[in-house]
Amino acid sequence: MAVRPVLRMGHPHLLRVAEPVSEFDTPELHAVLQDMFDTMAARNGVGLAAPQIDINLRIVIFGFDQNPRYPEAEPVPQTVLINPQIKVLDQAQEPGWEGCLSVPGLRGLVSRYQHIRYSGYDALGQRIEREVSGFHARVVQHEVDHLDGLLYPRRMGDLSQFGFVEELEAARNPA
Ligand code: NI
Repeated sequence: MAVRPVLRMGHPHLLRVAEPVSEFDTPELHAVLQDMFDTMAARNGVGLAAPQIDINLRIVIFGFDQNPRYPEAEPVPQTVLINPQIKVLDQAQEPGWEGCLSVPGLRGLVSRYQHIRYSGYDALGQRIEREVSGFHARVVQHEVDHLDGLLYPRRMGDLSQFGFVEELEAARNPA
């Protein structure tokens, strides 16, 4: 059980394409997942990808009931998703604010597909398949991007909507 350091934007390992997991339900895999959950909880994350703790495997976790960093987001079930795949069900995209534990203190407005089906495997190797929309779909797209070496600023079209959380909140709620 350990909270691991989270790599920050600029670290070259965040740019790698991660490797598929080939063996499930191993002590090594369970240990990686425990460290990921401990690290996500310690940082109030809504999701985390293994490359963020410098593990080059196609593993993401996500989920929360209530999150102080996204107080208005609807709950997302706690999920381990290994070797994920995303199918876009509707080409419609929607802008939404995203942060990332690898880009601390900042937020950006990012367009994501609203409606997707995702699939993959849990820690035991059992298949998961879900059709989701809204914030749930956004979180999955954000986390899966990490496995392909992509951080959300590279998904942004308009960098004027990228800034420090405190400044963005002050601008939205003038005193
Ligand atoms: Ni992230």
